[in-house]
Amino acid sequence: MSDTSPPDTPFPPELLRDVERRRTFGIISHPDAGKTTLTEKLLLFGGAIQLAGTVKARKSARHATSDWMEVEKQRGISVTSSVMQFDYAGHTINLLDTPGHQDFSEDTYRVLTAVDAAVMVIDAAKGVEAQTIKLLEVCRLRNTPIITFVNKMDREVRETFDLLQEIEEVLKIDCAPITWPIGMGKTFRGVYHLLEDRVLRFAAGEEKRSEAEVIKGIANAQLDELFPLEVEKLREEVELIQGASHPFSLGDFLAGKQTPVFFGSGINNFGVQEILQALLDWAPPPQPRDGGTRLVMPAEAPFSGFVFKIQANMDPKHRDRIAFFRICSGRYSSGMKVKHVRMGREMKLANALTFMANERVLMEDGVAGDIIGIHNHGQLHIGDTLTEGENLGYKGIPYFSPEMFSAARLRDPLKAKQLQKGLQELGEEGAIQVFEQEGGNMLLGAVGQLQFEVVAQRLKDEYKVDAIFESAEIHTARWLTFPDDLTRRNFEREQGMRLGKDVDGNPVYLATSRYNLEVTREKWPKVGFHATREHG
Ligand code: G4P
Repeated sequence: MSDTSPPDTPFPPELLRDVERRRTFGIISHPDAGKTTLTEKLLLFGGAIQLAGTVKARKSARHATSDWMEVEKQRGISVTSSVMQFDYAGHTINLLDTPGHQDFSEDTYRVLTAVDAAVMVIDAAKGVEAQTIKLLEVCRLRNTPIITFVNKMDREVRETFDLLQEIEEVLKIDCAPITWPIGMGKTFRGVYHLLEDRVLRFAAGEEKRSEAEVIKGIANAQLDELFPLEVEKLREEVELIQGASHPFSLGDFLAGKQTPVFFGSGINNFGVQEILQALLDWAPPPQPRDGGTRLVMPAEAPFSGFVFKIQANMDPKHRDRIAFFRICSGRYSSGMKVKHVRMGREMKLANALTFMANERVLMEDGVAGDIIGIHNHGQLHIGDTLTEGENLGYKGIPYFSPEMFSAARLRDPLKAKQLQKGLQELGEEGAIQVFEQEGGNMLLGAVGQLQFEVVAQRLKDEYKVDAIFESAEIHTARWLTFPDDLTRRNFEREQGMRLGKDVDGNPVYLATSRYNLEVTREKWPKVGFHATREHG
């Protein structure tokens, strides 16, 4: 029987100290709410970049040099996502970027399995939007603590009480306002910090990081002088919320039940510092994780972690693929030997990368919470676990049943091999789901139409394959589990036409309609039909 408890050897004190200093988080938002702007301003306040404009400039530099991202450019959306590490106030912060467009939500889900907290950006004029709802559902799967930033207060926006009520009702999470806005749009004056009893005065300005002017105490007469038209409303509202809203509770926040809410304007650098401070003060350091056989503590000495994302063309000049790996325990050092659990063999880790705001550099020292980039030549798949010693298998990276299906047809039949290779690799990377049917047919499954476009473009650019995608008569896919071998063989014999295998060789039922799925299910009550599958 496998041991289910962590080893009782004490944690190396230096490792424990370094782990406690890590904060690893992602930003979730509906497109256009201000995620890129906030990312940039966090980097600015964190000292990782000196001037605003760097992140956006980097985005456009990538556009200019990468062909396949033509799709991205044409649509004006961000397809790729990346990781940025910076040091701030004695902490090492890892910010994982997530694509906002819903067609790439699978990628976002996977990135969210690698974070310990999330910052949710809400456009104060629009409130809770569709993609926010979906992303929050994903965070909820792991009870990820959420910090809320209500952005664009410098515009004409919705009533504050209204917004909070909407967040609570639609997202089913309690709101604990930490700051409270004074006015909005042209008369946005700043925020009152409810826990610190001080007003932070708003001043528009995009370029530089600067500290907001502070006025102490809500009763301060200076407020009456400065904001004669707004101060009364502020005092009334503050009295009201102090009586009626949820007071901040660290325990409820960490359990994912309550979100501290901040108001600000990302573009004007306002409210950003408070978000950074909340991450340091309240967001959790790396947490214990389910390693399959047991719970793994982040400060255990043996190294372990999992691949949550594979990205091609990070640098178009090198045409490489990078596996993004979340360290869950131990310490990375270049040249170390680790076990590739799925393949059951040893592998050397050297020249792993870490990602700063503008560049990627060789990783020298990484601990739990850090993300390292490993050069990948196909040996690493999403969900793969690497360990020092013991066989672990990290859980929780989901595959969702696709909602759209296409069959790939070649214009030039002589390119069949390249097509197969390309689809296999793009499938392993998670760009799209690939199912192989009897007779070698390759069926593609996606959550959004744009995924097909990206795959078509990449097949052309990287594999020199011109393929046409024809819509396939498939309604949905279900991963199968069998109670025994005999049932499996019988099922395969009868349902062979409807079967496929995913990139990791798992059997999948490809249903032509909901009715077809129901009938088959009824006929085979002992066979498990699953709408999601965990990698690894
Ligand atoms: P996203 O990554 O979530 O898609 O949003 P992004 O940061 O790109 O912001 C979307 C738009 O909202 C941008 O305008 C950005 O300048 C604007 N924005 C972000 N924060 C604020 C804010 O606090 N106040 C106001 N008024 N606007 C804000 P854009 O015109 O689409 O792009 P750009 O030309 O300004 O770059």
